[in-house]
Amino acid sequence: MRIVRAILLLGGLLWPAFLHSAIPLSEYHQRREKLRKDLNGSVVLFGQREDRELIGRFRQESNFYYLTGWTEPGARLLITHDDEILFLPHHDERVERYTGRRTSAEDSDSKEKTGFQNVLPVEKFESQLLKALDSGPEVYALLHSRDEDALKSLLAFRELRDGEGKIGPLRRIKSKAEIAELQRAADVSMAAHRAAWNRLTPGAHEYDAQAAFTEVMLDRGCEDYAYPPIIGSGPNGTVLHYEANRRRMDRGEVVVIDAAAECDYYASDITRTIPVGGKYSAREREIYEIVLGAQKAAIAAIKPGAMYYGETGTISQIAKDYINSHGKDQHGEPLGKYFTHGLGHFVGIDVHDAGGVPLKLEEGMVLTVEPGIYIPEENIGVRIEDVVLVTHDGARVMTAALPKEPTEVEKALQ
Ligand code: GLY
Ligand code: MN
Ligand code: MN
Repeated sequence: MRIVRAILLLGGLLWPAFLHSAIPLSEYHQRREKLRKDLNGSVVLFGQREDRELIGRFRQESNFYYLTGWTEPGARLLITHDDEILFLPHHDERVERYTGRRTSAEDSDSKEKTGFQNVLPVEKFESQLLKALDSGPEVYALLHSRDEDALKSLLAFRELRDGEGKIGPLRRIKSKAEIAELQRAADVSMAAHRAAWNRLTPGAHEYDAQAAFTEVMLDRGCEDYAYPPIIGSGPNGTVLHYEANRRRMDRGEVVVIDAAAECDYYASDITRTIPVGGKYSAREREIYEIVLGAQKAAIAAIKPGAMYYGETGTISQIAKDYINSHGKDQHGEPLGKYFTHGLGHFVGIDVHDAGGVPLKLEEGMVLTVEPGIYIPEENIGVRIEDVVLVTHDGARVMTAALPKEPTEVEKALQ
């Protein structure tokens, strides 16, 4: 019994060190195969480079991460119909004194670690790229980036195509493993929201709530915020991307908390609007229930084939119509004009994920539904945001475990 426990303990201690990520290398390989299948040319990606001072936090470029899972700096990726090559920088003793040991092409385990059959040192990149040009006329790269400038000088006579436009459609549909990652980011973010709610007492500061949020996020093993947390009380709740979080909160105000974790490179994106001191005023509750009604109507219409954005009959329009047909401002005008942003976006490796704006929905897409009403004149901002998975016949709200019915929120604050 004691031995079993010792093994379990040891396994528990060693597991994180072995754990590449929750997504197996074979899945990254499958993603590249999908991209290669109908490729008439090459896809060229430059991985994120190291900050020269070696003090910045490194995060792999998202498309590069999607296709490789590789999280060491300075790598490059070349994909053609018949081949895929990962290029890695050489060992650099000076750099590795700061960063720890890295992997390079000459290491005996470089194939096993990367999941690539073909791992080459980065100075082979140019010659391999020129070879790859024979495989077809198209060259995809990330445009409007340093990559574009570098490639333009190497390939003066080729027109570069939009690599994100090529990879984005793949990233739009999440795999089972990705959905599990997104659920973990959602679960941790929900727990962190609850911790933040406990700090919304009159006289506390917005950053007190951020501190509680952050503690849970780090405590649960997530690496970062998915975006700078927005904790806007009173008038700050009407500023869509307020992020100073310095203000002292007063009883009778509501606070917009738009905050989420990034865990293992996957983001969440959750907003709740919470009353300081535990009870919504009558007007706050009125506005709140309109936003909630709009959100529910939109979520109820989500299913494969439905249009998210577009001219008429779209899910976005359902939310807008709901807001316009419920409640009034202080001048007796409809509230639609106070819903001043889009209804939502894809979520994945990036909080505003690749794949453009959501249009025709398909099973496996993950996106936010986040209506809001912001009335500066009344110092009231309300936004409610959930992450939703499109299922085969409807929607699953991945962040449903965090209360949003006003009575339930008030109960959670007691
Ligand atoms: N948190 C940024 C957004 O909701 O899009
Ligand atoms: Mn969002
Ligand atoms: Mn958000």
